[in-house]
Amino acid sequence: MVLEGVSGTGKSTLARALAERLGGATSLHTLPTPHTGWSALINERLRALPQFAFYLSGLLHAADLIRLARAVRPVVADRYASSVVACHAAVHEVPVEEVAGLLEPFRPYLETPTRTYYLGCSEAALRGRLAIKPDAKQDDLDLLAVPGRLARLVTNFRSVRAADATAVPLDMDGKSPGHLADWIVADLEAQSA
Ligand SMILES: Nc1ncnc2c1ncn2[C@@H]1O[C@H](COP(=O)(O)OP(=O)(O)OP(=O)(O)O)[C@@H](O)[C@H]1O
Ligand SMILES: [Mg+2]
Repeated sequence: MVLEGVSGTGKSTLARALAERLGGATSLHTLPTPHTGWSALINERLRALPQFAFYLSGLLHAADLIRLARAVRPVVADRYASSVVACHAAVHEVPVEEVAGLLEPFRPYLETPTRTYYLGCSEAALRGRLAIKPDAKQDDLDLLAVPGRLARLVTNFRSVRAADATAVPLDMDGKSPGHLADWIVADLEAQSA
């Protein structure tokens, strides 16, 4: 399964709770290593298209890792294809459809998730969470500092979700990670029954 959503919605926290409940599920982040160590430099130096190609490479590599891991146990992916499209479109202020078009030829290479949970919470909750986020990066700081960035991202995730056949919306407001993980496990069991 995939967890998607704006930075600070609680994907990584929920991924940890899910991996625990699913008894040894593989949890991985997209962008995976080695890409994750290069992202700050890539964002700083490369123009939009080469930057997209970098994130695409990370996504294709994540698909390979997922393919291997899901043959043995459930996989929780912390971000996947939707984040590549929604984030790139938000940062470079281009339409989501344009970025989705660039990704389209590579779709057959990507593993299709069982479910993609789109995490959402109120802007007030999100600002509070970003303020206390222990692993805040430049992207997280830009989310609050760059005018319109947060609004664009939220809108882009909504567009991507609308076009995703595996999408399940998940409202995070006022819910604990443990409660949400239980809900997801029940949803997955109901789906496979
Ligand atoms: N359900 C929740 N209720 C309240 N606070 C939460 C919840 N889930 C996570 N948080 C808090 O919100 C902050 C951000 O959470 P987390 O790091 O999991 O977000 P994220 O979606 O993985 O962000 P990023 O995309 O930047 O990695 C953390 O401080 C975390 O403790
Ligand atoms: Mg995270």
